[in-house]
Amino acid sequence: MNRRRRIYEGNAKILYEGPEPGTLIQHFKDDASGENKRRNEVVDGKGVLNNRISEYIFNNLNAMGIPTHFIRTLNMREQLIREVEIIPLEVVVRNVAAGSLAKRLGIEEGTPLPRSIIEFYYKNNELGDPMVSEEHVTAFGWASPQEIDDIMSLAIRVNDFLSGLFLGVGIRLIDFRLECGRLYENEMMRIIIADEISPDSCRLWDLTSSEKFSKDASRENGRVLAGYQEVARRLGILNTNE
Ligand code: C5P
Repeated sequence: MNRRRRIYEGNAKILYEGPEPGTLIQHFKDDASGENKRRNEVVDGKGVLNNRISEYIFNNLNAMGIPTHFIRTLNMREQLIREVEIIPLEVVVRNVAAGSLAKRLGIEEGTPLPRSIIEFYYKNNELGDPMVSEEHVTAFGWASPQEIDDIMSLAIRVNDFLSGLFLGVGIRLIDFRLECGRLYENEMMRIIIADEISPDSCRLWDLTSSEKFSKDASRENGRVLAGYQEVARRLGILNTNE
């Protein structure tokens, strides 16, 4: 029986109360997230892989001075994280046209964008996370103009790091989604990266073949997991026999 206090349960993750004040435990489930959740898919082992990939990326971001909520991994499916006040925005960074942008603007998938584009979506499941402008964000008080600047500069730094990291292992970072939170510490507040960065929240395509490794890959049995395993293998965090 699990006696820990459950703070929140989403499609792909559960947050439990942490061992110390100001901490939480983030548990990675195998359930599908985002657009795939409608199919109620469960991909055995996905949570374990996302835990490892997200740990690897957040450790690197922390080491580079890009602040994240990640403290350390606790076990195969769980991480110790800092508790933050989540900003109710999904921040999407795009380098190449795909997904909803390609559809909305009628741009062929795979077309490189003239420059990286940052978009905001209001985090609200019932409304289907609608896209919003900076005007909406400040008018409704979801974030201040200064906070938007901080979020955008974090998003650009994360994009630079991730693009280089993946390029080095033959993967094109098409786009990804971030969540940010406010961390209150020593009477100061700063914005840090929260949630996860994994193939669940990124579009990753093979550099030469354009094979899709993330969740919008062909979703026949086993294909999603194979893509996630390939990403982990190329990053050097999965043994070839796993
Ligand atoms: O679907 P769309 O093209 O807007 O997605 C852009 C990026 O944001 C993709 O990498 C997708 O995986 C990610 N995303 C996400 N969670 C959502 C919506 C999008 O991780 N709820």
